[in-house]
Amino acid sequence: MSLSLSLPPSPSPSLSGSRIAALGHYQPSRVLTNDDLSTMVDTSDEWIRRRTGIATRRIAATDESVTDMATAAAGKALAGAGLQPSDIGLITVATCTAIDRCPSIAAQVAGRLGIPSAVAFDLNNGCAGFCTALACADHSVRAGAARHALVIGAEKMSDVTDWTDRSTCVLLGDGAGAAVISAAEDTGIGPVAWGSDPTRGDAVRLVDDWHPYFAQEGQTVFRWVTGELPAIAREACHRAGLAPADLAGVVTHQANLRIIEAVVRQLDLPEQVVIAQDVVESGNTSAASVPLALSKLTARGDLPSGAPVLLLAFGGGLSWAGQVIACP
Ligand code: ACO
Repeated sequence: MSLSLSLPPSPSPSLSGSRIAALGHYQPSRVLTNDDLSTMVDTSDEWIRRRTGIATRRIAATDESVTDMATAAAGKALAGAGLQPSDIGLITVATCTAIDRCPSIAAQVAGRLGIPSAVAFDLNNGCAGFCTALACADHSVRAGAARHALVIGAEKMSDVTDWTDRSTCVLLGDGAGAAVISAAEDTGIGPVAWGSDPTRGDAVRLVDDWHPYFAQEGQTVFRWVTGELPAIAREACHRAGLAPADLAGVVTHQANLRIIEAVVRQLDLPEQVVIAQDVVESGNTSAASVPLALSKLTARGDLPSGAPVLLLAFGGGLSWAGQVIACP
């Protein structure tokens, strides 16, 4: 038996692709240095830099929420795209640290920005959340379910940090990044390469004890990522019809500079390819790290409009998602 539906025409019948139209980011003003941390736990600037590359991270104020940061980043992306709030038909926030379960952070952002009638929902895929949400928005826009979408990654990791655990508290930071996705004639967001490996599902966790806190088997994750991510990167490039050498930039999840360097080394990229290293100044901001790093690179003019950039994220699950995008 076949199912036949009489569907209304797509809102953008002549536009079969989608692209990132604009980006925005927000970071709290408080900078926490490695020297600050060495007064809190038994650590040192030398250890943190050598093992992670991290020099500083931003920490949100006590009364500064995931919604506040998501709204600030999204407002900038919306203004950058030259759109009105009423143009947005879909808004999704990738986060794993939002304390609010309902209404969703996305619904709250819609309210703050005056977005009148968009479908609004949060998505939790850990640190791979933004690239996952970007793929979902791309699919929705190309299917005609929305003409413009807001995709946000926002995290307040400091809320789920055990500040007495030196193995994790030195890694994490707060922030948000956002992208406006618009229907387009061409493909500006390549097919996603995504998946998960449940055999290592416990390697990254939010342990829900008296208060949720971040925990991980650092070396398990390190080995998995440096072993598996290069092949996933090549797969995302292949699906976009490119070789890694064709890329203008690579923005991976910003967890550890040593991981970034190990992955990039295996991709054998030309010297001129721009590699995001925002982890040095922002630490690990989970689902915010990819849009934050990408937005900062484009704001600095390091990646020209139209340049092919590989986005690639991994995290709890263990999950991964990545795609090649054309820079706005
Ligand atoms: N300062 C000083 N010493 C420390 C610190 C610290 N901050 N933290 C740990 N140590 C000590 C340990 O106690 C250990 O001491 P010991 O040898 O006496 O037992 C020693 O340093 C080595 O510890 P390791 O955990 O083996 O250190 P490693 O080199 O593996 O670095 C790290 C740890 C940075 C976490 C690394 O394993 C890593 O980056 N893993 C990947 C994590 C990741 O990518 N997660 C991403 C998903 S989750 C997310 O993004 C939100």
